Amino acid sequence: MSDKDFDWAAMADLLELEGETHSPYVRQAFEELGHLTPRRILDIGSGPGVAACRLAARFPQAEVTAVDGSPELLARAGERAERLGVRLRTQVAEFPEGLADVGTADLVWSGQVVHHVGDQQGALDRLAGLLEPGGVLAIVEGGLPARQLPRDLGFGRPGLQVRLDAAMAERYNRMRDELPGSVAVVEDWPGMLRAAGLTGVRSRTFLVDHPAPLAEGPRRAVRSTLERHRKVLDGLLDAEDLATLDRLLDPADPGGVDRRADLFLLTAKTVHFGQRA
Ligand SMILES: C[S@@+](CC[C@H](N)C(=O)[O-])C[C@H]1O[C@@H](n2cnc3c(N)ncnc32)[C@H](O)[C@@H]1O
Repeated sequence: MSDKDFDWAAMADLLELEGETHSPYVRQAFEELGHLTPRRILDIGSGPGVAACRLAARFPQAEVTAVDGSPELLARAGERAERLGVRLRTQVAEFPEGLADVGTADLVWSGQVVHHVGDQQGALDRLAGLLEPGGVLAIVEGGLPARQLPRDLGFGRPGLQVRLDAAMAERYNRMRDELPGSVAVVEDWPGMLRAAGLTGVRSRTFLVDHPAPLAEGPRRAVRSTLERHRKVLDGLLDAEDLATLDRLLDPADPGGVDRRADLFLLTAKTVHFGQRA
């Protein structure tokens, strides 16, 4: 069952910008799949289709389907595929119930989706159930929170980034608690993939490193992320930190994210792989 707290369609720009900025890790993760010649691929929770289009480009012989609960995001994925000249199908489905209708695949990719489902082990069981014999499930979960800001910004109390992380972690806990059908589980992703019946389970972590000064795309992704923080962290940050965020987001402020030369984007993405025997 879904996280009704999120208006995914409204987050389309953020998801697409972040997806593009982080996407070198997707290409690196595909190198782990070099032995596969998949005929059918599913991207479950594709959002605007950044990874799905990369899958379609990497495996042109395969039928690739982007699956998501948001028709608006799938429309974006379709437009993106057309723009990039890759073959991509789209299918609207609400997880986990709707997964019964998506068919089976030789490769199932699911990036940052399982943690939005109340019963995470149940969701993984369903995803594993979509695999053909010998097929691979790859999920993106865990990794490291992104870093974008110097410790001392020249205004506000130093260490804002760490307090943003703590506030987002608290919000994440609430999000998990409030999900319909929420089940507490030890988030041992490799162990959970094994519990779903998969073998050869392994995890690989990829660094996403955009040093300062940031190019236009990553800079817009940082703005988009901080705008989201500002929107959802009212009540979880003190007034001084909220004022610092407001300054960072002010297009006219020379210390704001649109103008400062010291912004960077550093994060790490972990992909967990498992195979159906
Ligand atoms: C954090 S975004 C990840 C998008 C993309 N996979 C990526 O890695 O950037 C989560 C996506 O999962 C979809 N989603 C979340 N919960 C869902 C559910 N219960 N049913 C269908 N789609 C869901 C959202 O619409 C959104 O596109």
